[in-house]
Amino acid sequence: MTGLNRKDLLDIQDLSLDEINLICNNARYFKDLFTRSVKTVPVLRGKTVCCLFYEPSTRTKLSFELAAKRLSADLINIAVSTSSVVKGESLIDTVHTLEAMKADYIVMRHAVSLAPHFLSKNIGASVINAGDGFHAHPTQAMLDAYSILEKRGSLAGLHIGIVGDIKHSRVARSDIEVFNKLGAKVTLCGPPTLVPDEFRQYGVDITYDLDGLIGKLDVINMLRIQKERQKGSHFPSIREYHRQFALTNERLRRCKPDIIVMHPGPINRGIEIDDGAANSANAIIEEQVTNGVAVRMSIFYLLAGGAPLEGIGE
Ligand code: CP
Repeated sequence: MTGLNRKDLLDIQDLSLDEINLICNNARYFKDLFTRSVKTVPVLRGKTVCCLFYEPSTRTKLSFELAAKRLSADLINIAVSTSSVVKGESLIDTVHTLEAMKADYIVMRHAVSLAPHFLSKNIGASVINAGDGFHAHPTQAMLDAYSILEKRGSLAGLHIGIVGDIKHSRVARSDIEVFNKLGAKVTLCGPPTLVPDEFRQYGVDITYDLDGLIGKLDVINMLRIQKERQKGSHFPSIREYHRQFALTNERLRRCKPDIIVMHPGPINRGIEIDDGAANSANAIIEEQVTNGVAVRMSIFYLLAGGAPLEGIGE
């Protein structure tokens, strides 16, 4: 198999198992580059990547920017808050402007679910979904899967817990899809108000009892409370949420000794996870960030039709 046989990367559910494995295998080669003094390769020389973020981001935006630069692409950043969007320009007019400038890739984050899908139908450039509303965050899910693969070799048979505000989380939706495709068992946990029963349709278990779950898990992925997406209150208080659903230092001691602790960031320390747990030897939160760059390099490369890699840059 060479490249991803598609123009865009919008959703995990579009990807075959072969494509998921190809992204992960090639990410390994790109990650090897990070140990070298020269970390760039000329894979996207002459191509233009445009980052179009309508919502705040630290990790995802910087990660795509660094991935594009390490592949030697030209990078355009549209700061939406200082662009003509604030003068009322429509999404489609912004996009046609980018097309006129011959952008080859548009990396888009938007508060509205399916905005990148709309974009992809109206532009010739490759569109990569960097997070749309509650809906999907496929590159975060790919880096999460890659990070577990790197530690365990396979996800098959692993029991992965996703804990927190599932209802408002695009990360949860995309993680469930990729973890399922790779053969893991997924259990969701959080307050009933934030873990809707309809998630069972995705083939996951649901529990509201974190203390009953933690000892069974191989991997725990802690999600933050998405205050910016919530309408009204979903639990009595932050203190009560922390008491029932945080990965505290004491709870970590009751997990399997080799449990992998993950968090997509941004972290609200002291709410969903305590400092000790976030900084523990089990936590791979910073490795997730490093892996994100490699995975996004792999995605750019494969969307450009790149072949499986052996010894890139040698
Ligand atoms: N994980 C993630 O999407 O983080 P940002 O919102 O900082 O991009």
